[in-house]
Amino acid sequence: MASKTKSVFVCENCGCESPKWLGKCPSCGEWNTMQEEVRVTQPAAAAQKPAKPTAALRSYPLSQIKPDTELRYTTGMEELDRVLGGGIVKGSLVLLSGDPGIGKSTILLQVCRALGSAMDVLYVSGEESYHQIKLRADRLGVTAAGIRLLCETDVQAICDHILQQTPGLVIIDSIQTMNHTDLSSSPGSITQVRESTNLLMRTAKSLSIPIIIVGHVNKDGNIAGPKVLEHIVDAVLYFEGERNLSFRILRAVKNRYGSTNEIGVFEMTDCGLQEVKNPSEALIAGRPKNTPGTCVACVMEGSRPLLAEIQGLVTPTSYGNPRRMSNGFDYNRMAMLIAVLEKRGGYYFNSMDTYINIVGGMKLDEPALDLTIAMALVSSLKDYALRDDVLAFGEIGLAGEIRAVSHCEQRIKEAARLGFSKCIVPKHNLRSISKSMQQTIEIVGVRTIREAFEALVT
Ligand code: TYD
Ligand code: MG
Repeated sequence: MASKTKSVFVCENCGCESPKWLGKCPSCGEWNTMQEEVRVTQPAAAAQKPAKPTAALRSYPLSQIKPDTELRYTTGMEELDRVLGGGIVKGSLVLLSGDPGIGKSTILLQVCRALGSAMDVLYVSGEESYHQIKLRADRLGVTAAGIRLLCETDVQAICDHILQQTPGLVIIDSIQTMNHTDLSSSPGSITQVRESTNLLMRTAKSLSIPIIIVGHVNKDGNIAGPKVLEHIVDAVLYFEGERNLSFRILRAVKNRYGSTNEIGVFEMTDCGLQEVKNPSEALIAGRPKNTPGTCVACVMEGSRPLLAEIQGLVTPTSYGNPRRMSNGFDYNRMAMLIAVLEKRGGYYFNSMDTYINIVGGMKLDEPALDLTIAMALVSSLKDYALRDDVLAFGEIGLAGEIRAVSHCEQRIKEAARLGFSKCIVPKHNLRSISKSMQQTIEIVGVRTIREAFEALVT
C-alpha cells in the first residue's frame, strides 16, 4: 500500500490538534495559532498481522538495578552549577530560555571557556555567523583550544556531525532556528521545534553527550513553541531580569537531576556575565538612609536567604480612581495587602496612588515579603522613616495577623551577617529560634501590623 498524506492543524501555543482549521484554539483559547502540518502515514503492515506477544521485552526488579554514578561536569561557574544541581549531567538535555538580549549566548560561550580546555565542545549557532561569534569570544577572552564552531540550521546534518565528532558537550543556539528538512513547516513552528528537539534528545541519550539548547520566549514570557518542549528535556533553566538592569537571575523551572528552588545571580558587565557571590550585599547596596518608604526583606530562594530592598511610594491621587502599581511583586497580592492595611490596620489608602518597587529588578513572590511590603507602604503613607538597621518579614493574613514563615533562623542569620541589628519576625516563630541567635541580634516577635510598625520605628 502506498503512503498517504494527511493535513492536520496544530496550535502553535499548546500543541492541540484538529482536522480542520479553527480561528480559536479549543484547548488554550488563543486566536490565530492553528498552523497546517502535512503528515505522511505509512501503511500499517504490522497492524494487519495477528497480535503476538513481543518476546524481547524484559522488566527488572527495582532492587536489582545498580545506581549509575551520575557523572557531572562543572561549568566553572558556581552559580550555574548550583542551579543545575551540581554541574551538567552526562547525556542530559538542558533547555536555557529567556528574553532576547538577556545573555543566553554569552553565558554559554563562557561555559565553553571553562569546559573547552578539558574536552571538545561543539557550539552550533543558527543565529550568528562565525565572524560574529569570534568577535564575541575575543571580547569574553574565550580562547580554549577544544571549542569548535558550526553555523548550521539543518538539525539532521548537525546530529550526523555530532555522531562523527563525538564532542564532550554540544550547545545549540537556538532551537527556533533549527530546521528538519523532512518537514514542510517553517523553522520555529511547533512541529519543527518538537521534532528537532526529539532528534537532539535521541543523539544526547545514545552517545551520552550533554546538549544545551537555547529556547526563545514569546511576548508573554513563555518558552516559544509547545509545552511539549519542556516535557522532552531534562532541565529547563530560565534567565530573567530586566534587560536594562545589570542583575540577571538564573532559575531552574524543571530539573530531573536537582532541586528547582535554587537560583544563580549574575551581573552583566563589559566583559561578560560575572557571578554575584554575595547577592544580598549587592542588592541592598546604595540604600537611601533615613528615608520614608523603604524596608528590607529577607526571602528564601531555594536554600539560600536573600536580602532585598522594598520601596513603597504613596502619593495623593489626582484622578478619581487611585492608581496601584507593582514592580516585581504580584499586583493582586499588593491589592489584598492594601485592603488588609485599611480594614485591620487603620491605614487608609483610598485617595492615594500606591507604588511598590523591588530594587534591582528582582521578581519575588514569597509570602514572607508581605510584612515588608506593608511596612514600606505604611512608612511612605505616614512619611515617617523606618530604622535603617531593622529588617522585617512575615506573612500577613486577611485578619491582619502576622503568620509564621519557614527558615526563620536562616533569614535572621543572613540579616546579622550583613550588619542589621534588629529583626522583626512573626511572634509564632520566636519559639524556634535558638538562644545563641537571640544573643547575636535583637529579635522582636510581632502579632499585628501596628505592633510591627511600632517596632520598626523605635
Ligand atoms: P546575548 O548573550 O547575545 O543575549 P541572548 O543570546 O540572550 O539574546 O547578550 C547580548 C547582550 O549582552 C547585549 O545587549 C550586549 C550585552 N553584553 C554585555 O553587556 N557585555 C558583554 O561582554 C557581552 C558579550 C554582551
Ligand atoms: Mg543569542
